[in-house]
Amino acid sequence: MRSSSFPKGRLVMADLGCASGPNTLLLVSEVIKAVHKLSRELGQECPELQVFLNDLPGNDFNNVFTSIQGFKENMKKEMGEPNSEPPLMISIVGVPGSFYDRLFLTDSLHFIHSSYSLHWRSRVPQGLEENKGNIYLTSSSPPGVLEAYCKQFQTDFSSFLKFRSQELVTGGRMVLTIPARRGEQHSEKECCYLLMSMALNQMATEGLIDQQKLDSFNLPLYMPSAMEVETEVRKQGSFAIEHLELWDMDWNVYEDEVFKRYALLLSDWMAKVSPAFVSLTVSLTKRH
Ligand SMILES: C[S@@+](CC[C@H](N)C(=O)[O-])C[C@H]1O[C@@H](n2cnc3c(N)ncnc32)[C@H](O)[C@@H]1O
Repeated sequence: MRSSSFPKGRLVMADLGCASGPNTLLLVSEVIKAVHKLSRELGQECPELQVFLNDLPGNDFNNVFTSIQGFKENMKKEMGEPNSEPPLMISIVGVPGSFYDRLFLTDSLHFIHSSYSLHWRSRVPQGLEENKGNIYLTSSSPPGVLEAYCKQFQTDFSSFLKFRSQELVTGGRMVLTIPARRGEQHSEKECCYLLMSMALNQMATEGLIDQQKLDSFNLPLYMPSAMEVETEVRKQGSFAIEHLELWDMDWNVYEDEVFKRYALLLSDWMAKVSPAFVSLTVSLTKRH
């Protein structure tokens, strides 16, 4: 956070795609600590913090709400202010809805954050009928499928930028971390869904799941390249990119029938290539 743009009195922020679990309040805690530290350094009173936690209406907001009281108490203790008077004011509110729609009042936010959520599309792209046997893009997907996914990303991301620009104050910041890809090609080395597709196809061959259902199933996802993100930001025009970075994270595996198969395929795959989850973090400032 820049001291020049540090708002006095009140800081209003939103975390989009907050989910419900151990990560939900992680970002909020980091922001609170940063604001608190900077206030001290500037010799200012810590601003009141208004935090909006957004996710789709089906998210378990009740679970999030039950953890808020304990979270606030821990934060105050961690910052050495358990009995401060007046107490550090943090208001945390749930906002159900899609971030591909307007969510907040005009010019009402100073900071927007979203991590590992913007790869979800608002809908399954149209025109994926030929993507049989695949559940996402692979090298065997016909060109029309790639185009359909790419177009859906462009539509969604430009709506996202437009709505957020209406909600952020001028000079407000937005930091987005998105599962991404390194190059312009859709590399299978960077995509775990090929193996998931193989596991599901094995199960269809064994009659455990219906082949037709599998053929008609496509994930509403898209991992953009840095160039695709930059192009949409430039086209939409409301934001200046301050910083953009691609970075890798190790893969992880879970338990379940499909995941057991996935794990077997994955270990075989990992022996041959060194796959990585590619993430892209972009920091943007709303133009005047
Ligand atoms: C993998 S979780 C990310 C959780 C957390 N932000 C993190 O970094 O660990 C993705 C979240 O995005 C939410 N999501 C997907 N599409 C969304 C949309 N259109 N609007 C709001 N939330 C969405 C999902 O419901 C899910 O909770």
